Amino acid sequence: LKAKYLEGIEAASDEASLEELRLAALGKKGEISLKMRELGKMTPEERQTTGAALNRLKDEIDAALRAKKEALADAALEARLQSEWLDVTLPGRPRRQGTIHPVSQVMDEVTAIFADMGFAVAEGPQVESDWYNFDALNIAPEHPARQEHDTFFMARDAADPRPPHVLRTHTSPVQIRSMQAQGAPIRIIAPGRVYRMDMDQTHTPMFHQVEGLAIGKDISMANLKWVLEEFCKTFFEVPSVELRFRASHFPFTEPSAEVDIRCSWDNGQLKIGEGNSWMEILGSGMVHPKVLSAAGIDPNEYQGFAFGIGIDRLAMLKYGIPDLRAFFESDLRWLRHYGFAA
Ligand code: PHE
Repeated sequence: LKAKYLEGIEAASDEASLEELRLAALGKKGEISLKMRELGKMTPEERQTTGAALNRLKDEIDAALRAKKEALADAALEARLQSEWLDVTLPGRPRRQGTIHPVSQVMDEVTAIFADMGFAVAEGPQVESDWYNFDALNIAPEHPARQEHDTFFMARDAADPRPPHVLRTHTSPVQIRSMQAQGAPIRIIAPGRVYRMDMDQTHTPMFHQVEGLAIGKDISMANLKWVLEEFCKTFFEVPSVELRFRASHFPFTEPSAEVDIRCSWDNGQLKIGEGNSWMEILGSGMVHPKVLSAAGIDPNEYQGFAFGIGIDRLAMLKYGIPDLRAFFESDLRWLRHYGFAA
């Protein structure tokens, strides 16, 4: 009897089977309990020896049950510790984090600088009508400038009643939309995407411009020059910059100037403010009277300046990156190399 129970207890693998064994031995109808009850029919001598033996057996089984129960609990705890083990001294696994694209970053900076100078932000559609993109800006249908814009035309069949549309080739149509909406005086910038069929080191088919427009009763080219110089100093974080105003021609400004910034290209590294190279960063001029008229503003009463800055060019200069195309290839290795991605 003793061997049977002690071996059973030793072999038990969980608390439920231990409880079964306890009931079988020490329960009300357990084997040992029944034997205890039979003590009454024995002679006093028999009763004494058998009773003592049964009591010892009962105590032994009781102790074995308790010990096994404890052992099982210990094993369970040990298993849990093993499976939930956590080494807090291991280095963390870093999570890659997205970062803002350099062009978006520059766009935000440029917007903030002009906002400080009192320019409000305006927007216009990227799919633009022929009229806003060209006609209203004094670019008539036969004007040679239309060819120079390398325009993407929206597909359209002859029966289409809608006016022809293009992917805007510049942000200048936002000049017209803003003047129509607000009249004069007006002071806005219009950042956004523009499109031209062009691709080389410094051109991509999609790129970014910020248009600037200031119309009032006595705004001159001197104001334009000051605004642009202030902008460049703040943007490039230098005490002075050298800008070169080159006489140029845009149908929508008269006079017109293209503006270059002094820079250098040492060892493929672009640097601004010093060196013998010039990088064209913007087109500008005094808004043509015909443009004011097309937008419903009286050119005898108002005048002002406009400019269009190449945002991507600014990003190239600021980060010293000689090839514009890399900005739009989404190559993580390149982005990480320049610190534009984690
Ligand atoms: N729209 C011109 C361009 O894309 C830039 C420009 C804007 C020039 C405003 C003059 C005034 O080249």
